[in-house]
Amino acid sequence: MDTRVQPKPHKVAPASLPQGDSCLLVIFGATGDLTHRKLVPALYDLACVGCTSRNFDVLGIGRTKLTDDAFRERLREGAANSKDAHNFTAEGWNDFAKRLRFLVGDASQPEFYPHLKAKMEEMQKNGASQNVLFYISTSASLAPPIVEGLGAAGLARNGQGWTRIILEKPFGRDLQSAHELNEIVSRVFDEPSVYRIDHYLGKETVQNIMMFRFGNSMFEPVWNRNYIEYIEITAAETLGVENRAAFYEETGALRDMVANHLLQLLTLTAMEPPVAFDADAVRGHKVEVLRAIALMSKDEVSRHTVRGQYGPGQIDGKAVPGYRQEKGVDPSSRTETYVAVEFHINNWRWAGVPFYVRAGKRLANQLTEIAVHFKRTPQALFSRSPKDVHHNVITMRIQPNEGIAVSFGAKQPGPQMRAIRVNMDFSYRDAFGGETPTAYETLLLDAMRGDATLFTRRDEVEAEWRIITPIEEAWAELPPPQFPNYAAGSEGPEAADGLIQYDRHRWRRLAQNGSDEDQ
Ligand code: BG6
Repeated sequence: MDTRVQPKPHKVAPASLPQGDSCLLVIFGATGDLTHRKLVPALYDLACVGCTSRNFDVLGIGRTKLTDDAFRERLREGAANSKDAHNFTAEGWNDFAKRLRFLVGDASQPEFYPHLKAKMEEMQKNGASQNVLFYISTSASLAPPIVEGLGAAGLARNGQGWTRIILEKPFGRDLQSAHELNEIVSRVFDEPSVYRIDHYLGKETVQNIMMFRFGNSMFEPVWNRNYIEYIEITAAETLGVENRAAFYEETGALRDMVANHLLQLLTLTAMEPPVAFDADAVRGHKVEVLRAIALMSKDEVSRHTVRGQYGPGQIDGKAVPGYRQEKGVDPSSRTETYVAVEFHINNWRWAGVPFYVRAGKRLANQLTEIAVHFKRTPQALFSRSPKDVHHNVITMRIQPNEGIAVSFGAKQPGPQMRAIRVNMDFSYRDAFGGETPTAYETLLLDAMRGDATLFTRRDEVEAEWRIITPIEEAWAELPPPQFPNYAAGSEGPEAADGLIQYDRHRWRRLAQNGSDEDQ
């Protein structure tokens, strides 16, 4: 019988909120930034609203020697300062913290795993659940030894409960390394037990792309090449590399953002309607989109991609250093902090519709959005020339200011028949209030419930790298760009405008919150 003091749920979970199965969550990389900033605030919130089972425990693993209390204290600070822990109170934390334990150890060494096994068994003897969820939140190089260590110690399968594993990105750094990692993982875990996380899929606004498209009847009939001229997907950040220079120097914007988050936004925007909202149907259709994306030759890479790196500039009126001056960055670094790519999807629905995708750090504004630009009317009834005809745009604002806007032409009041552009705007905040679950809350709860719909499947990850790897390879052979080529706080490199060959297509202005009123 479980005799431990049970933390009290602080808010009654709305009846519609599901609860995770009982489980023991084992986090590798528990002293790292992600655990501190994202995972624990999310778990704390889930516990507060009653979404974690009463029989839920966390075992953190790290190389720093810490007592359970010291571990809890570190995490407390992260949760207290995080805007993700919506319900933080000292009392709530004290209840939650009883669930946290720490085990020091070097997870790269096989000798560590018998200790881990003994610790887990001890916790389970004292009431912890037999269901085990491993979370690999370490640097990419540690994932293979951890998976192998778990396999060798017999921890990957458990006759008395379920065992699952969550793998954080980066999932490899090219097609070959992703494939090798997948092979290692599949020797130890069954694919249905593997949860590859892309936190963008946990965002409410990202899930809403499917709801918008497939939960309404009016958009889908026009969602194709007959009506849509082009699609823009933007993830602009004002932040720089912060304290992640070592990781970022090795990674760059293409691998960090496009290879996963932005390709996921693209697949959700472009996929066919699934027959059901379940993991296999949804992921199967997403993979089909990825398979239909045209791979680029070296020549196409030089025409359809732009790399950038920020120099010194200003963000919110404050001077900030260039990338090469950031702590831990090579002063002659060639790592890109900005990337723009024109993708084409070779299928019936999308042939001829360019998908312009861009991501960058230290840009003029923080803005993640998908803008779907419709074709202009065939006749310029209310304008002087066809060039002046406004086109309709549906903008899905992923963050911030989450919502969806539809722009259209309306008659300007007055004696003349003149069209001006207006917006119908849906805002999450106005419709549902401020607090929505964070991406990590959604995904952790899904993993505890065994729902893999919002996680990436093995073939999906490999299909993403199949598109990205030829770009990386071509860049390695092409003459290096002149970096830095954009100022911090700007719209990005000028060359990104040159990427677009059609007169009527243009990037939306970041400085104007993505507006395209100047078009
Ligand atoms: C991470 C990237 O996956 O996503 C970061 O490694 C990036 O470089 C972050 O800043 C962006 O996430 P979000 O949720 O803030 O858009």
